[in-house]
Amino acid sequence: MKIAVLPGDGIGPEIVAQATKVLEALRSDGLKIEMEHGHIGGAGYDAAKDPLPEATLKLSKEADAVLLGAVGGYQYDNLPRPMRPEQGLLRIRKGLGLFANLRPAMVYPELVNASTLRSDIVSGLDIMILRELTGDIYFGQPRGIRTLENGERQGFDTMHYSESEIRRVAHVGFQIAMKRNKKLCSVDKANVLDTSMFWREIVSEVAKEYPQVVTSHMYVDNAAMQLVRAPKQFDVILTGNIFGDILSDEASMLTGSIGMLPSASLDANNKGLYEPCHGSAPDIAGKDLANPLATILSVAMMMYYTFGRADIAQRIEGAVRKVLQQGLRTGDIYEEGKQKVGCAAMGDAVVKAL
Ligand code: IPM
Ligand code: MG
Repeated sequence: MKIAVLPGDGIGPEIVAQATKVLEALRSDGLKIEMEHGHIGGAGYDAAKDPLPEATLKLSKEADAVLLGAVGGYQYDNLPRPMRPEQGLLRIRKGLGLFANLRPAMVYPELVNASTLRSDIVSGLDIMILRELTGDIYFGQPRGIRTLENGERQGFDTMHYSESEIRRVAHVGFQIAMKRNKKLCSVDKANVLDTSMFWREIVSEVAKEYPQVVTSHMYVDNAAMQLVRAPKQFDVILTGNIFGDILSDEASMLTGSIGMLPSASLDANNKGLYEPCHGSAPDIAGKDLANPLATILSVAMMMYYTFGRADIAQRIEGAVRKVLQQGLRTGDIYEEGKQKVGCAAMGDAVVKAL
């Protein structure tokens, strides 16, 4: 298992260090794991004046899987756009062809009170958001800021989806639904956007190939409301890049903390980049306060999706459950009566439970 490790910025290095402890523990158990580190985001800019240095992309292309922390920091906020940390993330997704972004939102029984929503609304929640990751308004050209004939300035972006882009991610969505509760809800804005009207047409066509899956379509504004009204109605949510960005942040709070949510971004051959859904949290960076569980759970997804080792994925998830049962909590999921621990202690506890 050749893994490129890209810690990135902010809390990235701390949380990734906990996840690599888990990988090292698995290695000493006999798994053949090779890890090589690289720079991305602000760290890439600092090291090579590029948020995705050539060497990092090469390392990531040669690896079977990439483990990423997070990117971004205040000190990079005023750089010209191509040098911003986020560009590193967008470019590595595009460069590796990682079009299928899986963002599961699961509520652990131990954390049911950590959600801001009533426990009867969220307990037992288990949904999978599948976000298309390399198309849409995120990458559409032309884009920019231009001056109109009347002298007024205007910002503009382009939203588009081609048939093949929709088809391939739809297939991934239906295949995931087949392994779960066989329900897929495709989210769009087909009442306003032509791109969405086309999205809905193609998803409906692909749906015919999966007759066992109950398919529905929902407008994104309604989906945003339904996610907080009755989130358990969903099994798989299939959506485009920008809607998926927004809905996955919303869904994360159903689970109590975005600090618990892993993600996988896969190409057509299950090569993947694995990262927590949360950002680099520069306000708490370097203070041993971050929750490493989303990153550790991302390693579980790596074992499952890239390496086909459901057994190891379950072992990691089991270890996470165990530390939660033991009452260990980082600040973001802390509640009275539990034991507050730092990032490193949480990582150590998971390794011990493993
Ligand atoms: C995410 C993030 C990124 C995105 C940013 C940092 C570019 O919000 O992974 O959800 O919008 O995709
Ligand atoms: Mg986001």
